[in-house]
Amino acid sequence: MDRPSLLSYDSQRRLSGSSSFSYKGFFLTPKWLALLTSYFILFYIYSTSNIFIRHLLHPSPSDLFQPPPSTIHLISTFHPNASHHIHDSLESITSEVGVNVIIGEDEEAGSSQSQRSSSNGEERENDNKEENEDVYHDRGVFEEEYEEMKRKLKIYVYPHGKEEAFANVLVAVEYEPGGNYASESYFKKALMRSEFITEDPAEADLFFMPFSIASLRHDRRVGVGGIQDFVRDYIGQISGKYPYWNRTGGADHFYVACHSVGRTAMEKAAQVKFNAIQVVCSSSYFLSGYIAHKDASLPQIWPRHGNPPNIGSSNRKRLAFFAGGVNSRERIHLVKTWKNDTEIFAHAGRLKTPYADELLRSKYCLHAKGYEVNTARIGDSLYYGCVPVVLADYYDLPFTDVLNWKSFSVVVNAVDIPLLKKVLKGITSQEYLTLQSNVMKVRKHFQWHSTPQDFDAFYMVMYELWLRRSSIKFPLY
Ligand SMILES: *[C@@H]1O[C@H](CO)[C@@H](O)[C@H](O)[C@H]1NC(C)=O
Ligand SMILES: *[C@@H]1O[C@H](CO)[C@@H](O)[C@H](O)[C@H]1NC(C)=O
Ligand SMILES: *[C@@H]1O[C@H](CO)[C@@H](O)[C@H](O)[C@H]1NC(C)=O
Repeated sequence: MDRPSLLSYDSQRRLSGSSSFSYKGFFLTPKWLALLTSYFILFYIYSTSNIFIRHLLHPSPSDLFQPPPSTIHLISTFHPNASHHIHDSLESITSEVGVNVIIGEDEEAGSSQSQRSSSNGEERENDNKEENEDVYHDRGVFEEEYEEMKRKLKIYVYPHGKEEAFANVLVAVEYEPGGNYASESYFKKALMRSEFITEDPAEADLFFMPFSIASLRHDRRVGVGGIQDFVRDYIGQISGKYPYWNRTGGADHFYVACHSVGRTAMEKAAQVKFNAIQVVCSSSYFLSGYIAHKDASLPQIWPRHGNPPNIGSSNRKRLAFFAGGVNSRERIHLVKTWKNDTEIFAHAGRLKTPYADELLRSKYCLHAKGYEVNTARIGDSLYYGCVPVVLADYYDLPFTDVLNWKSFSVVVNAVDIPLLKKVLKGITSQEYLTLQSNVMKVRKHFQWHSTPQDFDAFYMVMYELWLRRSSIKFPLY
């Protein structure tokens, strides 16, 4: 109803301007113009008001970038008083054009999209449903590009041998990576054996600098304090010995890091920070070291093998679960708010029961940021078939170029921690089943394998690199 009317107004106006003199006279009557204009403004605000309301609720820079949380759920479940100030702001913004009348309508639209009765509304609702339920933004584009990526992407890795002094940092490990930062080692191990490797720099799309931030941190010769110097020296070496770095200032180079010390590792290598592709777990829009449009988010995954039992939705009696160190404002708030609750289990510190049991018996598993936006909890949730609830503002979520996060997760702004139960209970059991079955569909993207498997975390990272491959495709000199 809304958008088409805007269009038809436009075409009518154009028509009236060119061919129909009497229409022109009619539409140019000041009274009509004023009336029409206010209608269009009214419809425009109406049609865009979901976004509008979200922004007014929690205006933050991240709203511009972050995959929007499941807007429908959030809006439909807000505490009546919580949205009070939206109305105030809406009214003050729109009072000039006199559209406060739509605010009531909009509430209705937000709270029950499905109750829209006009055929037009129904149609749109179905469209939305299909859109919102697919786990990919555009499955067709992704599948096509993915195949092309597999055929064409070529990576040149700066060569390092096992005899080198820093082989521990530069050469892929032979053992199976483990622990919290395994993603870094898994990636390198998988890449080195993959079909993407080329020995010929001339045919490379991208150049990989294989230093491991996690290994540097553990290397006594370097340590946390020496990482910045190491990286600066490394860039000095490769740019002196090879022509590839200088050619683009590092724009077609990348490194991969999962440990959060990586976020300051490039402080003495500005070109890396500003030009190279940083594939990192600490992917926060708020960190000066992370540049969202050029860098890529690496999922932090605690590696596990095989499939856990009973990961379906039937045995999940508990609403939501969190356990972990209380080392951030968000976690303090979370635990303080929900520690006595019978439905949301928020536990400070280690559990006495097996962690896996809790992930298997909860409907939602909370990923609350700690020191950093990233933890292995999203990977944990997905592995155990639990719908992740992301409480980490400014987190550039992994693979968000491809994956439609709102189809398999709930993203909640940290200021809404007190509304958590309301938000989660506002999700119908039908909607939950969709979220959970989508979790089962995206699980494979968050798993590492010693021999990579199609669409697993390794191939997804490669795809992210493919999307960011340099625009500089010609040998310039
Ligand atoms: C909403 O706010 C009003 C006044 O600000 C208060 O009297 C009322 O109890 C609140 N309602 C709820 C459900 O908290
Ligand atoms: C790249 O640039 C640096 C700094 O200007 C210079 O020292 C180095 O020799 C250059 N490398 C090559 C291979 O020319
Ligand atoms: C939780 O329970 C403890 C002990 O009964 C009580 O002291 C505390 O105030 C409660 N906290 C909340 C947030 O309700």
